[in-house]
Amino acid sequence: MSPSIEPKLAEKPAHVPADRVVMFDIYNPPNVAEGFQEAWMTLQREDVSVLWTPFNGGHWIATRSGEIGEVFVDYSRFSSRVFIVPKDIGEIHRILPNTLDPPQHRPLRKLLNNVLSPSAVNRMEAHIRATAVDLIENIKPRGQCEFLSEFAENLPIRIFMGMCNLPMEDVPKLKFWMDQVVKPNPIMEYKDVYPLFLEYFAAVADERTGGGGDDAITDIVNRTIDGRPLTKHEKLNLLTVFLMGGLDTVYNLLGFIFLFLARNPAHRQQLVDDPTLIKSAINELLRRFPLVNTAREVRFDIEFDGVRLKAGEMIVPPTQLYGLDDRINSEPLKVDFRRKNIEHSTFGKGDHVCPGAHIGRLEVTIAVTEWLARIPSFSVKAGTEVQQMGGLIGSIPSLPLVWAAGSTDTSQ
Ligand code: HEM
Repeated sequence: MSPSIEPKLAEKPAHVPADRVVMFDIYNPPNVAEGFQEAWMTLQREDVSVLWTPFNGGHWIATRSGEIGEVFVDYSRFSSRVFIVPKDIGEIHRILPNTLDPPQHRPLRKLLNNVLSPSAVNRMEAHIRATAVDLIENIKPRGQCEFLSEFAENLPIRIFMGMCNLPMEDVPKLKFWMDQVVKPNPIMEYKDVYPLFLEYFAAVADERTGGGGDDAITDIVNRTIDGRPLTKHEKLNLLTVFLMGGLDTVYNLLGFIFLFLARNPAHRQQLVDDPTLIKSAINELLRRFPLVNTAREVRFDIEFDGVRLKAGEMIVPPTQLYGLDDRINSEPLKVDFRRKNIEHSTFGKGDHVCPGAHIGRLEVTIAVTEWLARIPSFSVKAGTEVQQMGGLIGSIPSLPLVWAAGSTDTSQ
């Protein structure tokens, strides 16, 4: 989803103290091109942990791990009814299960948990590995690639198609629609693209309802809630969110991680020398490169961090700032693969915590493992200035990588 950027600034409500106002557009933070997470960290202050910005309809932002955690976890004060700012755009995105609060959220969420459970995901491991290896083996002899379009984009969609037993020839069509939703300057508007997803999944859901396949779609559409079958609306929403939730997130996370590995040969070498370190290294990289924006609606007037939040106002709990808070992780911008007691909210927290966390971690772990086994030494193409971007999900628009073709020499 790319919410249209609201150029108009909201007027400061009287109850917002002047010292809490910050000029910060969460979709285009100041100086984001040089570093997405660094741009967010400029919000962290010692004295206060909740600020207000006039951008995107005017909303609060929690800036420290304690307050971010509270917003994520306490649905009695912070509702997911609207989870995107600006609020008027968020009101249009009535997506399930994202926009439900407990207890209504739980039964639908359980269906996603079933198909994305650690045991279900572990059964996918061979398919994920084979897909990653195939993509890398194709790219490797050339000695260079545009990492995002040639690798990162292809991995999650192919895994999704495999998990759902959908034909690979549908990939270009689904990718085109996804690009309209998540990439800047789309050709089609969200309101015109979303029905295409629904139409696509309606046909598949009809075909698989009552079927006996062992794919994720057959699993979801044949489940019941409190003894009743799912409505068509529920089925289509779950399938669409299942597709949308897992593509751009993994794709962009891979971008940040591979940019880091390309620029930091000593860290890369640590993983080449000891691949058993990769699993914990991925957790540290998840902490260092959080990227997803979300929001909550304040349910009723409350005091929070010494300010008054009014019913109906929006508050953003940035996943970007939780693990990068020096109150819980010392030297937060430093990547230390042996860091102990890592805390982050890169997958969110509370009832809506990402159900795709297991598969997301596994995809990224396998990508790094198989890439380093075949291309242990690589760098950003000389003369390239790699930019970073804001949005609903932080991103790196282009990442040209180079390596010595046909060589596995790690000493270069
Ligand atoms: C690896 C990269 C990923 C990251 C960083 C990520 C991040 C997140 C975050 C922060 C949330 C919480 C949003 C909120 O509280 O409003 C979330 C929710 C969600 N994610 Fe992920 N995600 C990733 C991968 C995936 C994958 C692979 C899938 C599916 C296959 C997925 C499906 C979902 C769904 C369906 C939700 C909504 C859950 C609910 O509302 O209960 N995500 N994700």
